[in-house]
Amino acid sequence: MTNTSKRIILTGATGLIGTKLFAALRERGYELVIFSRNPVKARATLPGAAEYIAWSPTEGGPWATAIDGAHAVIHLAGAPIAQGLLGVRWTPEYKQEILNSRVIGTRGIVNAIAAAERRPAVLVNASAIGYYGYRDDTPLDESSPPGRDFVAEVCIAWEREASRAEEYGVRTALIRTGIVLDPERGALAQLLLPFRLRTGGPIMPGTQYYSWIHPDDEIGILLLALEDERVRGPINATAPNPQTNRTFCETLGEVLGSPSWLPVPEFTLRIALGEMADLVTRGQRVLPKRALELGYSFRYPTLKPALQDLLK
Ligand SMILES: NC(=O)c1ccc[n+]([C@@H]2O[C@H](COP(=O)([O-])OP(=O)(O)OC[C@H]3O[C@@H](n4cnc5c(N)ncnc54)[C@H](OP(=O)(O)O)[C@@H]3O)[C@@H](O)[C@H]2O)c1
Repeated sequence: MTNTSKRIILTGATGLIGTKLFAALRERGYELVIFSRNPVKARATLPGAAEYIAWSPTEGGPWATAIDGAHAVIHLAGAPIAQGLLGVRWTPEYKQEILNSRVIGTRGIVNAIAAAERRPAVLVNASAIGYYGYRDDTPLDESSPPGRDFVAEVCIAWEREASRAEEYGVRTALIRTGIVLDPERGALAQLLLPFRLRTGGPIMPGTQYYSWIHPDDEIGILLLALEDERVRGPINATAPNPQTNRTFCETLGEVLGSPSWLPVPEFTLRIALGEMADLVTRGQRVLPKRALELGYSFRYPTLKPALQDLLK
């Protein structure tokens, strides 16, 4: 079967990762069906898909039949976990939305897979390195045990729902993504502002690890999971050289020609962000063991060239 005859269902296509994946899949000749909460907006921002279907994180719906006969489902959708960095705090209601959008959303996708007469060959499901919880500098790989904090609990429940697809004979890949570096959106965009004002510096304590990944490698690992039948279960999508926050900020300062000198005290972030401050003041040192075992060759294994490329 050529890629042009392979239909892929993509949720979260309008997001940071989804937008880039959409372009990469189109380039490879796949036929794309976008599931979105706002299909009209999705059509306007991402022209070129075969269909735009209304979807929301529910246990089932009219969208479910579109999965019948698809070659693959790539499920990225979920309420932003770090939205609070833009002013939305982790209230109990928002935490519930983070959880439900993933657990109920993934349950609905797997229910539709189970009900399909012609089931997809593969489900590629998003997850996050938050699965491992906040840790010290111990290197972590796919066999490391999960953490016990809020994000870890979300990832455990999310992966559990996705893994049910295996019961229906569908190969399931769980993409444990690290911090995707994008100068426009997400963590890097937040870090850039103080550096551009020449007030950049490490987030204390500075020893916490940031397991980052260049968007090209994030897409590379998603495509690997889609196309290589050996990928099954968890696979870390992080560069092979995670850095402490201090080194990350020094490298960012070097690339921008703006010194990393003004430390950000942990307590100010706690006041501003509450529990969500953990996302930036704590971290985990995650290695892409499975991707390397499978022979994946990173375009950006080290931080400085990755930042130079993104900020050029
Ligand atoms: N970016 C990272 O650094 C990173 C790191 C680790 C894990 N991940 C995970 O990878 C996935 C994709 O990441 P991303 O950064 O591309 O995400 P994103 O930019 O926040 O976009 C995710 C998409 O999910 C949909 N969405 C938003 N809120 C939703 C809600 N309440 N319920 C259901 N769907 C909702 C939206 O699509 P529509 O509006 O079209 O429905 C949105 O475009 C996410 O699940 C994320 O947790 C990302």
